[in-house]
Amino acid sequence: MITIEGLSFSYPDGTMALEGINLAIAEGAATGIVGANGAGKSTLVNHLNGYYLAEEGTISINGVRISQKNLDRIHQLVGLVFQNPDDQLFTARLYDDIAFGPENLGVPKEEIARRVETVLRELNLWELRNKAPSHLSQGEKRFAAFATVLVMQPEVIVMDEPTSDLDPKNRRKLINLVNHLQKTTITVSHDLDFIWDTCQRVCIMNRGRIVAEGPAKEMLSNRELLESNNLELPLRLQGE
Ligand SMILES: Nc1ncnc2c1ncn2[C@@H]1O[C@H](COP(=O)(O)OP(=O)(O)O)[C@@H](O)[C@H]1O
Ligand SMILES: [Mg+2]
Repeated sequence: MITIEGLSFSYPDGTMALEGINLAIAEGAATGIVGANGAGKSTLVNHLNGYYLAEEGTISINGVRISQKNLDRIHQLVGLVFQNPDDQLFTARLYDDIAFGPENLGVPKEEIARRVETVLRELNLWELRNKAPSHLSQGEKRFAAFATVLVMQPEVIVMDEPTSDLDPKNRRKLINLVNHLQKTTITVSHDLDFIWDTCQRVCIMNRGRIVAEGPAKEMLSNRELLESNNLELPLRLQGE
């Protein structure tokens, strides 16, 4: 269960990016967050693993209130897949990038080896384990970034624009992966068809606020609601 109460945040330059966000997400639910550019989606999800700390308001993840003091605990609970995989991969060898997080947590060596191999095999990256992440294709990097999160076995997985620059086949692969996660997930995406395929609930953001929240298919087929928030119907509903 994730509870956000009265969350507000402004950047040092004075930009008010979040204003009075209230949201409750049930354990195991898949929630999509949509909104036009600059609506505050990334700012919001970057709060969920303590990357940004609430200026005003509170966030609790499965009963643990996020604060400076318990960031280690929060990093174990919540995995964030950044919008840009390059922000997540920084060693010279794919294998080391995946092992990095569990090593930091002090997971025993044999356990790390087991976890890393399992995750890399699941994502079809095992053959690439000795490659430099910088030499991977964009799609491979995206799945590698997912691997760094999955290997931590978090209870909550947050993804920021996970389908940007995936080809149709990899996009389909990601839909399958996300639908088989069996975890609480929060997905930010401009790809409303991806949200349609992977989420049960949808929040619509506009100018730092959540302006609507409800069942995904109901939200995503409401043309008027979407258009009033500078969004368009999912492609599969256009032309109907
Ligand atoms: N580092 C930053 N410094 C100042 N303003 C920022 C920064 N990052 C984002 N913003 C501003 O905060 C608002 C929300 O941005 P963001 O959360 O990135 O939106 P979204 O992810 O929905 O496109 C925007 O007005 C943006 O210009
Ligand atoms: Mg963003």
